[in-house]
Amino acid sequence: MREAQAQRSGLGDTLIWDLNTITADFGQVLRGLTRYEPGNALPAGFVHSEYRWLVEGSDYLGRVSIRHSLTDSLREYGGHIGYEIRPSARRRGYGTLILRLALERARELGIGPVLITCDVDNFGSRGVIEANGGVLEGEFEVPQHQDKPIRRYWVTLPGSED
Ligand SMILES: CC(C)(COP(=O)(O)OP(=O)(O)OC[C@H]1O[C@@H](n2cnc3c(N)ncnc32)[C@H](O)[C@@H]1OP(=O)(O)O)[C@@H](O)C(=O)NCCC(=O)NCCS
Repeated sequence: MREAQAQRSGLGDTLIWDLNTITADFGQVLRGLTRYEPGNALPAGFVHSEYRWLVEGSDYLGRVSIRHSLTDSLREYGGHIGYEIRPSARRRGYGTLILRLALERARELGIGPVLITCDVDNFGSRGVIEANGGVLEGEFEVPQHQDKPIRRYWVTLPGSED
């Protein structure tokens, strides 16, 4: 697994998962990633969601999470879609690509308009959202995230205008 090689060679990449856990039981990791998909019982306060990975060949580039609906809390902060590109693959357009693909998936799912939030000073994420047609609702202080304001953007997908 090249991710493992990158970590071991000290290239500075990070994973949200512990490498030992992944290699010990990858199936368990995948089951964990699908636990909130439709058809599964949800813990209180959770909504159905799905994860997708962006890969190139055998290389993992990033991940995206698509929430199928919003709770009051997600409406305030978090939104429908969250994403991350691995550090060594940033600033090459993959963030813009992963959000574009996620918006296509959101359209398939009938989600819309789509809410995406980011910290005011997350200029990479701002660029990604704006490149995908995000329209700024405004900057807000929210209780879930007290150290800095957030920006809320909306993307209206074709067919979700109403
Ligand atoms: C935010 C993130 C996904 C951006 O991914 P990326 O692959 O670097 O994004 P892109 O290469 O598609 O860049 C999109 C735009 O943002 C700009 N940009 C990217 N990173 C930037 C940075 N750190 N500072 C300023 N601008 C930045 C790019 O220049 C590009 O603009 P351009 O098209 O005018 O050149 C990535 O930095 C990341 O994973 N960050 C950590 C997790 C995170 O913040 N997720 C979002 C939570 S809301």
